[in-house]
Amino acid sequence: MTLFNHSRRRFLTQSGLGFAGLTALPSLAKAMEGMGMHNQHTGDMMMPKITPNKASPNFHPDVELELFCKPAAIQILDGSRTNLLQYTAKLIKGEKNTLTDLPNSYLGSIIRLQKGQKVRIHLHNGLSQPTVTHWHGLHVPQVMDGHPMYFIEPNETLVYEFEVLNRASFNLYHPHQHGATAKQVYFGLAGGIIINDEEEAALELPAGEYEIPLVIQDKQFDSDNQLVYAPMMHSKMTGFTGDKILVNGRPNFHLDVASRAYRLRVLNASTSRIYKLAWNDGMPVTVIGVDGGLLEKPEVKSYVMLAPGERLDVWADFSGRNEGTELTLKSLAFAGVLPKMGMGMHKGGIPVGSEYPICTIRVTKKVSDSPKLPAQLSKFHHYEISDTVNPTNPLPIGISEAPMSMLLNGRPYEFNNPLPSERVKVGSIQLIEIFHAHGAGGMKMDDGMKRGGMGMMGGGMGMMDLSMAHPIHLHGQQFQIVSRSFSGDSTAYDTVRDGFIDSGLKDVVLVMPMERVKIIKPFQDFKGLFMYHCHNLEHEDMGMMREFSVE
Ligand code: C2O
Ligand code: CU
Ligand code: CU
Repeated sequence: MTLFNHSRRRFLTQSGLGFAGLTALPSLAKAMEGMGMHNQHTGDMMMPKITPNKASPNFHPDVELELFCKPAAIQILDGSRTNLLQYTAKLIKGEKNTLTDLPNSYLGSIIRLQKGQKVRIHLHNGLSQPTVTHWHGLHVPQVMDGHPMYFIEPNETLVYEFEVLNRASFNLYHPHQHGATAKQVYFGLAGGIIINDEEEAALELPAGEYEIPLVIQDKQFDSDNQLVYAPMMHSKMTGFTGDKILVNGRPNFHLDVASRAYRLRVLNASTSRIYKLAWNDGMPVTVIGVDGGLLEKPEVKSYVMLAPGERLDVWADFSGRNEGTELTLKSLAFAGVLPKMGMGMHKGGIPVGSEYPICTIRVTKKVSDSPKLPAQLSKFHHYEISDTVNPTNPLPIGISEAPMSMLLNGRPYEFNNPLPSERVKVGSIQLIEIFHAHGAGGMKMDDGMKRGGMGMMGGGMGMMDLSMAHPIHLHGQQFQIVSRSFSGDSTAYDTVRDGFIDSGLKDVVLVMPMERVKIIKPFQDFKGLFMYHCHNLEHEDMGMMREFSVE
């Protein structure tokens, strides 16, 4: 194990900007320079370079596949192809349906696994920059979790071997390269993982052509159809947003369906955009599952919030609808997730919290038969606060916001340097409280100035409230949401509050300004370093990430 210093120079030479198309865009190159791992907090951090894990002769996989990360050029818009980065997979061993490609998409293949299977994945880095892949949602040992310390250089291969311990659920895989997660995801590196198990199979939910992944992202294109990713000071702080909504990698996504029930597996793989999903004709949104799999009972909502990294399992019943009926899945208007100055400063694009369509669905076939929605979907153990080792003393996840430093527990990301409250016993069940650390009103201008960087904001804004919503993600086992409490003026909060699904197993929770969320999380089976961070990926890369050391 060798140690080196993550200097900016290293980032620039090793990242190589990924592919040729990018170097033609000087503003992008400049923006990416600013996005790197070099900032006042993480720039001098020591991160080990670990020899990539190799296949173990004692591990006998049921499923084995190769996963390549490499540059690609895909036709997305009319005219030039778009240069991006792509996961492609090749099955070595396993059932034929292990891998399914989304049609005409840059997104990685959907990987289908069964609970209990042993899986080996050979990750090949065909990029010109370092990367590492994380299996978001999967409960795996530290060395298989895609912690940034396991990054591989171009042309290196990293072998993952793990058993699928999770229950049936829809998860995702994406890079977790230190300081470059947002950029690598934005340029195309993301894919879905569907886990099945017997409990779920017994329900005979819509499957095959009736089970449809909907991966939602937003991107910005230049006049030559190339991706623009230029998070400047302000958009780093709020998160970078695009001016086109893509579903499964396609603009103006459209689905033809029969008049029956479908199962929509929805994933928000945007770097920062939050959606408020609803059907345009007032049909309620019937949710049967979230991040960690099926709910016990369906929840019927007029709208549902979906933050980056979150998943939704939606029962969409088009029974009785006539041929030719069209429906739109929309994002409805909402407020309160961005700093008060956020909306006004947004240039162009589709403002977060405005109303816009996500995709359209047309009934093209009338059928008479449809499966029925089960009243009971699953069963799982519900933790009580009294099951935790710290019922009166929750582990804190304190969010603090300043223009150049998005922090957790007052600290930026530091490799292997846990606070006392970040050391937990393996096997323990912990009560955790996520809150805004700077009081109900967020941070004021003068605090921000002391922390640095405020001078770059341009003057004349006076006092401002930087507090915003953060989708907080914890690696490892899923958690249960115990309570949310909100204090303050609820005008904005009222536009989102009915859209949270807190009854299921979660690994991302959207925490609104002035909100405190209590969760219970088990830390079973594996010792080691497990990240927790904001899944607004620009925030993550700015250092809004910490680790639990499970000991
Ligand atoms: Cu989806 Cu640590 O991330
Ligand atoms: Cu994760
Ligand atoms: Cu955040």
